Amino acid sequence: MEYRKAVFGDIEAIYELVNKYAEEGVMLARSRNTLYETIRDMVVAIDEKNGGRLAGVGGLHIIWEKLAEVRTMAVDPDYIRRGIGGEIVRRLMAEGDELGIEQYFTLTYKPGFFQTLGFRIITKEELPHKVWKECIDCPKFPNCDEIALMREAGTKAQ
Ligand SMILES: CC(C)(COP(=O)(O)OP(=O)(O)OC[C@H]1O[C@@H](n2cnc3c(N)ncnc32)[C@H](O)[C@@H]1OP(=O)(O)O)[C@@H](O)C(=O)NCCC(=O)NCCS
Repeated sequence: MEYRKAVFGDIEAIYELVNKYAEEGVMLARSRNTLYETIRDMVVAIDEKNGGRLAGVGGLHIIWEKLAEVRTMAVDPDYIRRGIGGEIVRRLMAEGDELGIEQYFTLTYKPGFFQTLGFRIITKEELPHKVWKECIDCPKFPNCDEIALMREAGTKAQ
């Protein structure tokens, strides 16, 4: 499996994967506009033995000084539970650590996955208000039913 930053040629496959999961209600939909605007946030896992197929994607979005959101986590159903999602999150956080990020948070319906990576469940009220600027375009706003988790830099994974 090859892990690298996303490039334009990945966008259609990312769009399809993320929005297929969104239709199933397990993650939020993302427009092509958002994916292009945040392309530099994203790391992809590419199966080079299978024609360069997209196996997974994840993004790290800077919110404020030392605070970033892990978002757009999606691993193709053919590739789940092989450690790909975990590896993407670790790579995103390594990039964030270089910038000096001290707190990583996520809003998800899959808290178990993030707990294995050292995130702990928090109340949404613990997140700074700036976070919600990202949420106003969400169809679910203001009735967010995702679970918030936080991980301090340097926290050990399970
Ligand atoms: C959640 C998701 C990204 C995990 O990716 P993955 O590549 O399957 O995850 P990994 O193989 O790295 O899993 C690492 C560990 O996390 C835990 N884990 C993974 N998926 C889990 C789940 N659905 N529920 C609980 N724990 C989970 C397991 O402990 C796993 O280790 P194990 O397989 O040895 O038991 C993937 O299942 C997915 O894309 N799901 C659909 C979209 C989605 O829900 N995205 C998250 C919304 S932000």
